[in-house]
Amino acid sequence: MAKMAASMVETGEDAFRKMFKRYRTKHPPPDFSDVLDFSTGKQSDKIIPVKLDKAAVSDVEVTRVGLQPVRNWRAFSLLEYPGFVFISNPFQPGCQAFWVRQCLKTYPQKPNVCNLDMHMSPSETQNIWEKSVPVLKTSPAVKRQAKTLVERLRWVTLGYHYNWDTKAYSADHHTPFPPELHLLSRHIAAACGFPKFSPEAGILNYYHSDSSLGIHVDESELDHSHPLLSLSFGQSAIFLLGGLCRQDPPTAMYMRSGDVMVMSGQSRLRYHAVPRILVAPRGQTPVEVEGCGPTTALQASSVVEPLSQEDWAVCCRYIQSSRVNVTLRQVLGPGQNFPDSTFPTPKTPGGQEGENHDGASGRDKRKRSSVETAET
Ligand code: OGA
Ligand code: MN
Repeated sequence: MAKMAASMVETGEDAFRKMFKRYRTKHPPPDFSDVLDFSTGKQSDKIIPVKLDKAAVSDVEVTRVGLQPVRNWRAFSLLEYPGFVFISNPFQPGCQAFWVRQCLKTYPQKPNVCNLDMHMSPSETQNIWEKSVPVLKTSPAVKRQAKTLVERLRWVTLGYHYNWDTKAYSADHHTPFPPELHLLSRHIAAACGFPKFSPEAGILNYYHSDSSLGIHVDESELDHSHPLLSLSFGQSAIFLLGGLCRQDPPTAMYMRSGDVMVMSGQSRLRYHAVPRILVAPRGQTPVEVEGCGPTTALQASSVVEPLSQEDWAVCCRYIQSSRVNVTLRQVLGPGQNFPDSTFPTPKTPGGQEGENHDGASGRDKRKRSSVETAET
């Protein structure tokens, strides 16, 4: 059969799956010409500008968390995707490094939960960063067999900890949500018209060059009227945003370091996936180039702080080949409680459906490793 041209929109039952496989294929590399790129400012008949609420957060407040004033943010939506907002890297130059360090050093710490806890004892997963740094600091030229714990991170959960087996959050598995990440998310949500958003759960996904995230919908949260926020750091990815049905063909877009995505309203329950990570040549990753210091002086009340040289060296090395994505979710509606856990509510068929990278069903292959990786 003749090879399908990349520009042809496939429809039908497997449209999303086919697109996923196409972008995941390494040899020959796919045609990326249809991938939307919000960073270039290039016009597309699919991209529409979005007006943010510039008065929702003051310049002082956004600067504290390392963001630019809201009036400088470049925000877009897509035609036929109401509620979807893409903000092209709203961070201040030099400030992403702080968030990268939080994701690699701080958030994997107890009491947060990570994939390593699934098969290692609490003492083994204590001080993940400290145990990894001595090895990560050594010359990359030195070949080594074992990966450090930081390199073996696949997911971390925050707040209400998502349970990959039951595909649910529960009242009895909750730890304090990191306050600085809470603040960052609230400011982004407020600028997008959600002043009441309060993140209660976070999922961090760690991607390497061969990782992918299967086709899924995030619907385990009990209230879908709140937006879902997504922040990306490090290497770029191809993100596929589909429809409310698995059959709907998705739109492909680049998600680069610092980019923020908001899925709300009619786009809150859209299918989506990450078929591919695009590793830039050494020295060309924007965060790496920016470095670890904000170009302007930090306020005394700043949440963002400069990194030690050691922290920066390790973070920089990590993001030269990897990507971290943080999704922020409000789980409960106002005044809402979890249903009595002794009487679990049955899941509707098709709920929280997903795929791993080769198209098998079940997002929660993430049970063991959130992000599917070809590496062992
Ligand atoms: C998720 C998710 C997207 C990404 O964690 O649910 O969809 O860009 N992540 O990694
Ligand atoms: Mn998701």
